[in-house]
Amino acid sequence: MNSLPIDGERLQRQIDELAAISAAPAPVVTRVLFSEADLRAREYVKGLCREVGLAIREDAVGNVFIRWEGKDEKLPAVATGSHIDAIPNAGRYDGVVGVLGAIEAIRALQQSGFKPQRSIELIIFTAEEPTRFGIGCLGSRLLAGALSLEKAASLRDPEGKSLEELRDQAGYGGLDMKQVRLAPKTYSAFVELHIEQGPLLEKENIPIGVVEKIAAPSTLRVQLTGVGGHAGAVLMPERHDAMLAGAEIALAVELAALKSGSPDTVGTTGVFRIEPGAVNSVPCRAWLEIDLRDTQLPTRDAALEKIEKSVAEICQRRGIAFVLERLNVDAPAICDQALVGRVLESGDELGLKVKKMISRAYHDSLFMAQICPTTMIFIPCRGGVSHRPDEYSSPEQIKNGVAVLASTLAKLASK
Ligand code: GLV
Ligand code: MN
Ligand code: MN
Ligand code: MN
Repeated sequence: MNSLPIDGERLQRQIDELAAISAAPAPVVTRVLFSEADLRAREYVKGLCREVGLAIREDAVGNVFIRWEGKDEKLPAVATGSHIDAIPNAGRYDGVVGVLGAIEAIRALQQSGFKPQRSIELIIFTAEEPTRFGIGCLGSRLLAGALSLEKAASLRDPEGKSLEELRDQAGYGGLDMKQVRLAPKTYSAFVELHIEQGPLLEKENIPIGVVEKIAAPSTLRVQLTGVGGHAGAVLMPERHDAMLAGAEIALAVELAALKSGSPDTVGTTGVFRIEPGAVNSVPCRAWLEIDLRDTQLPTRDAALEKIEKSVAEICQRRGIAFVLERLNVDAPAICDQALVGRVLESGDELGLKVKKMISRAYHDSLFMAQICPTTMIFIPCRGGVSHRPDEYSSPEQIKNGVAVLASTLAKLASK
């Protein structure tokens, strides 16, 4: 596999072309689930897959499955993949490297004359990012049966649109949501290529990471209703300002994470909207989304409870009505040691050092790990920066990742 014909220039060109499909001007990439940009990006990537002659299937929630048929089509396939949706103000590599990189890995394997025994499938997951519905990994949760169809049907975006309505508009309305969940043993393995989104590989000058564990994410949504009024006329003792309650809650999130006793607890209030949003009006409503994660469940869960208690206390003291929802409370994923071993072997054969690591970001791998042996291949990104327009991995770093992915897929698909 040392001499696989990976075309780094073609891959970089495709990454740049895909980045140009965005709701915001370059260098920003914004592709929210089922937005015009997301739909055009899906078409772009499906076009590339057709060029390579691969069969495409889509499910009712918009997960896309691209298959290179193996000699024995009855064997569970080996899967790879990632996402092409992007949060507002994102960069061009998060998720994309694992999708376009996998197409390049498949092309290179085909050109080398490799014939897989098992089929190889590339999955482009719907909405790894939580932007639209507040819940991440929507597609992979449903594939794994980790989100009920009832809960999925109850999801609403900030404009009140349902998943049902949006998937219908996106052209997936005719497909049956009951068929999204995968049958047991559909895949023998899942390996996701991704940028690290952290600084360690770059700092230690190591080209490849292999993931042994993915930290446990959780998300809370808090809706606050106070009393609005004229900013000049309502005197301070009379106020029930929803924004100020939200501000105190955001500080309580910071404190809960800082004092959890674990250096791995991280808490972020990443969404904070207020209404009516007029300078001379007391905010009557606020809407917060809180992201809380940890590598260990006990400290994450204790911090979560502390935040929930703080919400109740702050709202009571300030005379604010609240609705608190746990959008998701997930366990960490433990990766498969045999697969970790295959990635280590691939790195060894290619002369690329591989570091064992934890993923602090979540990925569709978190849910694929619930249904088949899973691991991830990381590549360095500059300064560890991600979820920002200046996110960057070099063509050489990406090519290394694709080489390790291709070699690992070949090993897994050979028997
Ligand atoms: C996914 O993008 C995450 O927030 O980890
Ligand atoms: Mn992301
Ligand atoms: Mn990602
Ligand atoms: Mn992610």
